[in-house]
Amino acid sequence: MSAPAALSKSVETFIPLTRPIIDDETIAGVADVLRSGWITSGPQVKAFEAKLSEYCGGRPVRAFNSGTCTMEIALRIAGIGAGDEVITTPLSWVATSNVILEVGAKPVFVDIDPMTRNIDLALVEAAITPATKAIIPVDLAGLPVDRDRLYAIAKKHNLRVIEDAAQSFGSTWKSRRIGSFGDFVSFSFHPNKNITSIEGGCLVLNDEREAKLAEQYRLQGVVRSGFDGMEVELLGGKFNLTDVAARVGLGQLPRLDEFTGKRREHARVYFELLDTPAIRALGLGLPPADFAQSNWHMFQVVLPETLTIKRAALMAQLQAAGIGSGVHYPAIHLFALYRRLGWKEGDFPKAETVCRNILTLPLFPTMTRAEIVRVVNTLVSILKAHSSS
Ligand SMILES: Cc1ncc(COP(=O)(O)O)c(C=O)c1O
Repeated sequence: MSAPAALSKSVETFIPLTRPIIDDETIAGVADVLRSGWITSGPQVKAFEAKLSEYCGGRPVRAFNSGTCTMEIALRIAGIGAGDEVITTPLSWVATSNVILEVGAKPVFVDIDPMTRNIDLALVEAAITPATKAIIPVDLAGLPVDRDRLYAIAKKHNLRVIEDAAQSFGSTWKSRRIGSFGDFVSFSFHPNKNITSIEGGCLVLNDEREAKLAEQYRLQGVVRSGFDGMEVELLGGKFNLTDVAARVGLGQLPRLDEFTGKRREHARVYFELLDTPAIRALGLGLPPADFAQSNWHMFQVVLPETLTIKRAALMAQLQAAGIGSGVHYPAIHLFALYRRLGWKEGDFPKAETVCRNILTLPLFPTMTRAEIVRVVNTLVSILKAHSSS
């Protein structure tokens, strides 16, 4: 049965926030896995880990069923728990700080640099106490946190680093791939990420000892030896990736550079259209124009505070015009769970201002220039209609 004309037209012309690209080779590969008789963790996961390790300069990499458990496991491997403090940013997906709570430690938020929207490294040292054990920096939208400065602080204060690089797979720091250096590095392969395994993630580790521990935490703490040998020494969970998901990831990995290249091209078009005196005069905040290091996971603008329309209403108008948008993210410390733990409005004013006004616009490799033009024209016409100046 075909869709009603009006519906099929709107489906046809809707520009989503993001859209994964799964090619026919990958779909055929997934079908092969499904027919193979082995669909949970097996040879595809091993092959995916080998390719990820190659990508990360030969460092040990283990795959998991999310880019959340990767960080929880890194914290556990680092021995972080009750009584420990972990420094992070209030502007991230809530997973970043939930994992700190999950292991029984205390998140210590540090305000952001409103230009990069990442943690302000100039404020980090003041937040370090004798209980501080680690820092979890986040590369928001794929823009890398300054790794030189980050690791100088970590070294000086003897802190572990768990890079929340969920969004920065494909980004670089001074020509080195994120993941190929540093301490723990956590990536996510959620469908909105630059490459996907539907759900999934991986953790880059320092040595085989950590990799072994990661395997134990990944699956109930089990260590096998021979056909019938089994031991459980620590409390692990159920975080293993399936072979079906790993096969999707294997099909995505060779296309990473192509996907990132397209995203960069599209981000340049956004700049070409938005970075004009007339639009700047409307007070719209643009992201840093980093076309060398960022993988352009997202294109985020910051709406002017003076706008006479609420962000949600603006998003509804975009939606009505057939354009998806998103909020990445509300400030973590102002969620009810975190308020109950003592955080309040005014604690991190720069993050709060950005979080109130940030808006993610559509960006995905198969977008066309005409679609970007449509997004920009629609947004600008709403801004003009609701500008207080
Ligand atoms: C910054 C950040 N951290 C952590 C995660 C968690 O990844 P996952 O959804 O794979 O658990 C995400 C994914 O959305 C993220 O964007």
